[in-house]
Amino acid sequence: MSILNIVTHPSYFLRTKSSVVKKKYIPTGEFQKLVDDMLETMKHAQGAGLAAPQVGKSLRIIIATDKGKPFIFINPKLYRKSFKKVKAEEGCLSVPGVWGTVKRHAAVSLVALDREGSKVKLRATDMFAVVLQHEVDHLNGILFIDKAKKIGKPPQL
Ligand code: NI
Repeated sequence: MSILNIVTHPSYFLRTKSSVVKKKYIPTGEFQKLVDDMLETMKHAQGAGLAAPQVGKSLRIIIATDKGKPFIFINPKLYRKSFKKVKAEEGCLSVPGVWGTVKRHAAVSLVALDREGSKVKLRATDMFAVVLQHEVDHLNGILFIDKAKKIGKPPQL
């Protein structure tokens, strides 16, 4: 495994719509290594999530953590987005040193493939739902700073 370079704003990769991953590509060593490297990179950077464009790959792959546990989702789609919204303090490894308040759906359903290529479906709430929305935005070239109301430095700095 290796730690990949995280692309920072402004960058072409962060503003590009990522491509769907072909199912036959998932079992390849190259793809599996990319997933392992993304996991290692996110862990090293102490992120709550990571999307492939953040490591310079325009592919629809995200990692989202739920209570510290990382989950890999390939070609994720969100649906059944709750009417209820929550305000969350967000940051992003690609926009270092900046935090902002973003309104997100309080709950979302997700359908995706896992790293074995099997279909997964789940309902996410709270921080997990927020992370999923943030990471799926990355696949569409959207950054949290596009949506954030109050942008500033993290409170602890
Ligand atoms: Ni991000």
